Amino acid sequence: MSVPVVCTTIDEVRARLDAERGAGRTIGFVPTMGYLHDGHASLVRAARGECDVVVVSIFVNPLQFAPTEDLAAYPRDLERDLGVIAGAGGDVVFHPSVDEMYPHRVATTVSVAGVGERFEGASRPTHFAGVATVVAKLFAIVGPCRAYFGEKDFQQLCVVRRMAADLSLPVTVVGAPIVREPDGLAMSSRNVYLSDADRAAAPALYRALRAGRDLIVGGERDRARVEAAMASVVADEPLVELDYVAAVDAATLGSVDRLAGEVRLLIAGRVGRPRLLDNIGVTVPPG
Ligand code: PAF
Repeated sequence: MSVPVVCTTIDEVRARLDAERGAGRTIGFVPTMGYLHDGHASLVRAARGECDVVVVSIFVNPLQFAPTEDLAAYPRDLERDLGVIAGAGGDVVFHPSVDEMYPHRVATTVSVAGVGERFEGASRPTHFAGVATVVAKLFAIVGPCRAYFGEKDFQQLCVVRRMAADLSLPVTVVGAPIVREPDGLAMSSRNVYLSDADRAAAPALYRALRAGRDLIVGGERDRARVEAAMASVVADEPLVELDYVAAVDAATLGSVDRLAGEVRLLIAGRVGRPRLLDNIGVTVPPG
């Protein structure tokens, strides 16, 4: 296990990765906001398995936090993160300051219409423009690469894919499966905020998704009935305040009354302090 090289400036990381590409090596990129868990480690391992050089960015991006959201309280632990990255096979860490990334007031932003507007986009209206802007900037800094994103933030993955395609960026966006705790809770940096009681209640989100999937696999095609069944699972858990459940087309995140093809079941809810997200994919059986 070797210690990753830490670059704090854009020039430094760019020069290093350009030299690697110049020597014929491929780059795998894992963008993160730090406070890494096993889900992030699985992205680094996936990049390690497919690319010659693995770079991980750690940057808590102020643009994706609304003024009402507590940016300063976002958890950070660089030393621990470097250990996780080393253990999973990362080679380079890009850890810029806010001034390095945004030396001037930001005048140019990227927003993705359609796929970024519903669900998380409706609850957090400035969030995806903040994500798309920083990811476009990171892609410009890292250059041609395969970039790995967790499916846990499924709408974010769709927004990033669309942004990279629309802007013809030389990046292959790769979605990686959600990593779950043994009781099904999707791993998230926000899980640290759960009290013991909330932690015990939180797997209701995944139970709801499984109930929806089982209904579809059992023959149900009516979107509204699937969504109602998922909501009723959460209603049995008083500590979870449901924000939305949805059964949508997996590619566009659009609603369809009759479910067909590749469907994504999405759920979001507040469990005590944190707002948690989860989702699963279902291939609707023909007939
Ligand atoms: O998913 C995250 O951690 C962030 O939204 C990302 C993609 C690193 C952009 O800041």
